[in-house]
Amino acid sequence: MCGIVGYIGSKSAVDILLDGLTNLEYRGYDSAGVAVNIDGQVELYKAEGKLQNLKDIVEAKKAHIEKSTIGIGHIRWATHGAPTTVNAHPHSCNCGKVAVVHNGIIENYKELRERLEKQGCVFRSQTDTETVAHLVASKYAQTKDLTEAVRLATQEIEGAYALCVIHQDVKDTIVATRRNAPLLVGIGENEYYIASDVPAIIQYTKKAMYLDDNQIVTLTPTSMKYIDENKNPLEPKVEILPWEPVALSKMGYKHFMLKEIHEQPDVVRNVLSGKLRAIDEAITLNEVTLDKDNLKNLNRIQVVACGTSLHAAMVGKYIIEQLCGIAVDVEPASEFIYRRTITDKNTLVIGVSQSGETADTITAVRQAKALGSHILIVTNRPDSTMAREADSLVPVNAGIEVSVAATKSYMAQVISFYLLALYMAEVKESAAKEDIQKLKHELIILPQKIEKVLSHKEDIQICARKFSGAKDFIFIARGINFPTALEGALKLKEISYINATGYTAGELKHGPIAMLDESMPVLSILMKGGVYEKILSNSEEAKARNARMIALTNSEDQKLKDLFENIMYVPEIDEMLSPALAIVPLQLLAYYIAEFLGKDVDQPRNLAKSVTVE
Ligand code: F6R
Repeated sequence: MCGIVGYIGSKSAVDILLDGLTNLEYRGYDSAGVAVNIDGQVELYKAEGKLQNLKDIVEAKKAHIEKSTIGIGHIRWATHGAPTTVNAHPHSCNCGKVAVVHNGIIENYKELRERLEKQGCVFRSQTDTETVAHLVASKYAQTKDLTEAVRLATQEIEGAYALCVIHQDVKDTIVATRRNAPLLVGIGENEYYIASDVPAIIQYTKKAMYLDDNQIVTLTPTSMKYIDENKNPLEPKVEILPWEPVALSKMGYKHFMLKEIHEQPDVVRNVLSGKLRAIDEAITLNEVTLDKDNLKNLNRIQVVACGTSLHAAMVGKYIIEQLCGIAVDVEPASEFIYRRTITDKNTLVIGVSQSGETADTITAVRQAKALGSHILIVTNRPDSTMAREADSLVPVNAGIEVSVAATKSYMAQVISFYLLALYMAEVKESAAKEDIQKLKHELIILPQKIEKVLSHKEDIQICARKFSGAKDFIFIARGINFPTALEGALKLKEISYINATGYTAGELKHGPIAMLDESMPVLSILMKGGVYEKILSNSEEAKARNARMIALTNSEDQKLKDLFENIMYVPEIDEMLSPALAIVPLQLLAYYIAEFLGKDVDQPRNLAKSVTVE
């Protein structure tokens, strides 16, 4: 949700900034901009819409712009102010000497703006960020020290921010700081990079330092000074980033989403690796610090998450309750944070987040931590804010996910819940040994079954083509696959913009059935097991109302052929593990429908991958 980049060194800055923004485009694509310092003048270049528009502007003046060896850049997901050029970052002050890029929300921007306007500041945009530019300019006028100006400015700001600032009079310096928004500094040979996220810098350096809240870094081509909010000097904690630049390539696939769907068999292998070694060996989760006593004293588990991660958490509820006999509540993090929650030291609170930076989930787990709960984070980003603040961690190892629509990270989260539940069941001795071993075996052979689905996509493509004209779509399931229905519907609506809803099949007759007619596709998720016959009856009820019936099943039952217009098959699988297989055809269905409709699959409208505002 907005991405920022910065470069200072001896190379031309603009290509590095544009490359960085390209790799951060998943964070927003409403507008983009860069600021550079050329011959002692700060110059801003901005464009509304996709990054390509900015690239075209820069290209036209390339010979001039590439002279700068310092610059900052921004990619925007609009919060305050429409996605126009004037609202695009970087923002500046009256004299044009300051340039600021910002990720986050300045909550007290109205009061600040009113005050600054009274002091003579002229605002050009409707953004909250422009207040920071004016504020830094006024502090710099008093102190003649850019670091101090930024420090003083941030003391007046309420809200969340990652900021990068340059000033015309301090031409070899970038100052950056953060509070509740991610920011890291990449370290090269006599050069530094700044970014909201690793993909922006990984092709240039693997050496980096993450900033913590309220820390301020001042960069010149040859130095990095790092202080806390009270001006105390800090020792940089330099890390080697565990990512490879190849993760940012489509590897021959048309879209990142398709590539990431196809990576899922290996993602499962990676998640299991080192944690599930053999069916008769105990699961090891090295970064889970809950011991036998902690687990015995737990009387409840509360899971908080958003979007796709919430659906993975809902699968997790079924698995943990089944194997561990502990009550699990799952709630959207955005709901959890605005009421009195009954969590305490006997509640394990699990936060699930691909990015580890989702603002609602961060707030939810922080609130729970303050109430004494043990915080366990399931995340794809062990370098994220959530991971760094966690008591226990389950890193899901899906690799960088570029497509805005989450696929492989969902798979990795679901598999992590199986591991976590098995781990707790083994410590608590709450499940039969044979059941544990059976599930472990199923997990080990799951990648081959996913590979089978991926190598027989024809039925899914036929179905996608046939139903791509639908205005609405209903997904039904029961039990452990209800979250699969929700996730299948979410994938379809976010990339094809078809109105899709997931229902528990039993609820259909309590209202939604009124919507059914010959124009409504109903996709039934019919995995063999305890609720198979029930879903079949619910599908008959839908068919009787003339709905266009589609099945996703692992059953060879001949009567399905009379009931369903289209059938997508998956291999035989234990019902308990079936969500991890059933989701794959639904991801592909959404992909092929969106692709057939010519939608922007990897960057669907209005969305951003990392939602860092509440
Ligand atoms: C959907 C999707 C979103 C995210 C949600 C939470 O495809 O990606 O619904 O799941 O924004 O993000 P994380 O998991 O990063 O907390």
